[in-house]
Amino acid sequence: MSEVGNVAVVGLSGSPAASSKSRVLVAYALARAAARGARVELVDLAALPADALLGRGSAPAVAAALDAATRARIVVAGTPVYRATYSGLLKVFFDLLPQDSLIGKVGVPIVTGHDRGHALSVDHGLRPLFASLGATVVAGGVYGTSAQFQDGKAAPELLQAVDRAVEEALALAGGAISRGDQNLS
Ligand SMILES: Cc1cc2nc3c(=O)[nH]c(=O)nc-3n(C[C@H](O)[C@H](O)[C@H](O)COP(=O)(O)O)c2cc1C
Repeated sequence: MSEVGNVAVVGLSGSPAASSKSRVLVAYALARAAARGARVELVDLAALPADALLGRGSAPAVAAALDAATRARIVVAGTPVYRATYSGLLKVFFDLLPQDSLIGKVGVPIVTGHDRGHALSVDHGLRPLFASLGATVVAGGVYGTSAQFQDGKAAPELLQAVDRAVEEALALAGGAISRGDQNLS
């Protein structure tokens, strides 16, 4: 596999859980991108100050996280399904991102839910969330169920789905590079 060069990839973990399945998949996605030569950063939204996340004042850690997300070429967003869609934690972070701030960037949705009943939260929840800020979203979003995790480890077919999503994102980001868009980092 070829190196992708200096592509910046940010992974957002939108689970408040201390031990999180979706965070495992986000971390795996970043590891795969790093193995291809990308610069990667994991932002654990649960570790950010809640008041600033809710817009009640500001905090350097939240400003840095927003900066990382808006500078990255690829944004991987991981979340548990909560009440049939993404977590409130992920939503409040997206609400703080400036309008159009993801134009020209590639979004990778990763969702874990208890079972497949809410698998469409990838397409009905995260995909329009990304699109509302201008991101191009990979065709192959990732959805994992509780049964696909054992002792905190994801099943091979789930990891393969993440592999495919990362490869697609890198290919789309490479297309943006070859089009000569200088505004993207
Ligand atoms: C408040 C809450 C709401 C949930 N709602 C749903 C739901 O609507 N559909 C579903 O399939 N799972 C639901 N779950 C289960 C989680 O989505 C599932 O356990 C997920 O894998 C957790 O991901 P995490 O470990 O990254 O937090 C819910 C869990 C909690 C705590």
